[in-house]
Amino acid sequence: MEKTKSSVFGRIKAKGLIQGLVIVVLTASVVFGIIVGIRLDHRKAQLLETKAAFVTIVAMDWTAFNDGYFSWNELRRNIQEGQIATAQNQILDIVYLYPFVKSASLEKRSPPKDSQAIENKDGDLRLLFSIKDDYGNSPLEDWTAIVSLNSQDLVDAILPQAGMRITGGDGQDFAYGLKVSFVEPLLLWSDYLIVFLAIFAVSFPVHLVGSRTSRFFYETKGLESIIYLFEQTEKEAVSHSRRVAALAVFVGEKMGFRGKRLRNLYIAALLHDIGKIAVSSEILQKTGPLSKDEMAIVQKHPAASAAILLNFQELAALSPIVRSHHERMDGSGYPDGLKGDEIPEESRIIAVVDVFEALIGTRPYRDPVHAAEAFKILQQTPLDQKIVSALIANYDQFASFKAPRWAVPYMPMPA
Ligand SMILES: [Fe+2]
Ligand SMILES: [Fe+2]
Repeated sequence: MEKTKSSVFGRIKAKGLIQGLVIVVLTASVVFGIIVGIRLDHRKAQLLETKAAFVTIVAMDWTAFNDGYFSWNELRRNIQEGQIATAQNQILDIVYLYPFVKSASLEKRSPPKDSQAIENKDGDLRLLFSIKDDYGNSPLEDWTAIVSLNSQDLVDAILPQAGMRITGGDGQDFAYGLKVSFVEPLLLWSDYLIVFLAIFAVSFPVHLVGSRTSRFFYETKGLESIIYLFEQTEKEAVSHSRRVAALAVFVGEKMGFRGKRLRNLYIAALLHDIGKIAVSSEILQKTGPLSKDEMAIVQKHPAASAAILLNFQELAALSPIVRSHHERMDGSGYPDGLKGDEIPEESRIIAVVDVFEALIGTRPYRDPVHAAEAFKILQQTPLDQKIVSALIANYDQFASFKAPRWAVPYMPMPA
């Protein structure tokens, strides 16, 4: 028995732990996914923006150098005449006048065929020029001018906050065969904080709702088990409470009750007579008329039911419903002598189906009353006749009525 009990609670705990883990993993995945998506989009935009500016500046530089220095008779002539040092000096001010230029030099090699040859050499950009006359014609055949640009400085100047680094080989494609990578990690510590807060923000309410739901379930099941066992010993009304609850849901649905209100009606109906455990069996099982004192004791049970529910956090709100299930429309009921609309509608429904079940239910000391006969009695009793009519009009559907899923929160009970 101990083993069975502990394994049941062990399973409940394990289930709760797994649900908690699933919530944490799902929340973290979704929030990480969103943040990574946003960051990647942002980086893509930064890369495209920087690339467009970079390509434009390099093209403008190339044109400026080509027109300003390498279409120049004097330079061409000096090289032709072997005055290489002089020619070198003539192009040196490119380094001083233009930002991002690392060097400008002359090399004895064939000029580029492409008019805008640009090379990537270990992360630096080399702009290649042929040496031409003032009109841009007659390029020298075996000399090339090379202007080397510091591509990292240029990238930093375009969008410093992006933190992009020109790399030797790895990274994303940039321009002219260059590759770049981002210095900062994709996710910052603040992103981890956001994920942590999101997990807390999601799992805390889920946990609260989950624990309220399970508390509601166990409180109801605990009390229902007590009343069920109690009714087993009280031979006059075995399963009275379960049948009243089933009838109450059936009528409640016909009266337009839905969702939580319907469920509360069901639970209140299930527990309406829990206070009878305070009434002695001698009185409850008595078949003859009750004395005035005995009647007074029996009539305490709705208030006792209400008082019991007040001790349970999730059921306390149902206490007034349970308290008034023996009130009558004309004020002749008990314990408070309420009249008409003063009686909660839920209590009026329970009152109707309670009397009905008492009439049609099997009792050891008499035969059950036929439903048609019971309807007549209900119509002559000061009950809410709207509810009586709803019961009478729909009772033929009760046998095939499918109660909501939550309407049977029982663990199997011993036979
Ligand atoms: Fe009762
Ligand atoms: Fe009852």
